[in-house]
Amino acid sequence: HPEEAYAAVSAIVSHSDRPVTVKMRAGWDLQHINCVQIAKICEEAGASAIAVHGRTKTQLYTGHSNNEYIRMVKQAVSIPVIGNGDIHCGEDARKMMEETGCDAVMVGRALIGKPYLIQEICSVLEGSEYHEPDAVEKIRLLYDYALKLCEYDGEKNGICQMRGISSYFISSIPYASSCKAKLSQMNSLDEMKEILDSFVKKIFTIGD
Ligand SMILES: Cc1cc2nc3c(=O)[nH]c(=O)nc-3n(C[C@H](O)[C@H](O)[C@H](O)COP(=O)(O)O)c2cc1C
Repeated sequence: HPEEAYAAVSAIVSHSDRPVTVKMRAGWDLQHINCVQIAKICEEAGASAIAVHGRTKTQLYTGHSNNEYIRMVKQAVSIPVIGNGDIHCGEDARKMMEETGCDAVMVGRALIGKPYLIQEICSVLEGSEYHEPDAVEKIRLLYDYALKLCEYDGEKNGICQMRGISSYFISSIPYASSCKAKLSQMNSLDEMKEILDSFVKKIFTIGD
């Protein structure tokens, strides 16, 4: 609905004193790729930047995100274009920027449990040195994240969310399966700390 896109974006722009950005997929389905048309309309309506995920709506998360759609949008508009879709490491980000000419990248799923991915991406883009956190650092990052989330959302809600995502933080650490199972059923920050402390001890015992 291009005319509705124009009306929606221009209404938001005229009622906001902040930059308005628009995020979109490539189109509804492979027969209806309209990201270039919609991006131009958004630019005309006053959007300050556009983020494009290179999949269609009907693809959901199947297949691969196609950088070609991001490239087409970048060619068509003058405002900054943010590329998005299937970035899992620094090299993916570098490749997307090279292939599409996009001005920035946006990372979604790969950051769940891997907040240090941002540093990895920056180091690849800047050519600087990078060291992936070791097992104990990853466990500390997990606990710090839980503390912040509980501070933000309350311990009950925070721990409930952490039950679902904790395993992502430690999935690359060997012998983590029983720790992951316990974290998926924990009820408090204290319990989480106990589970993680005993996992750290186990890592050092195995390492001996
Ligand atoms: C848990 C979750 C929540 C999301 N919430 C939003 C959202 O609120 N708005 C949005 O535009 N995209 C949202 N997305 C889509 C992502 O921003 C992104 O476009 C998509 O996951 C593809 O990028 P990725 O391959 O890096 O994950 C969400 C994705 C996930 C996994």
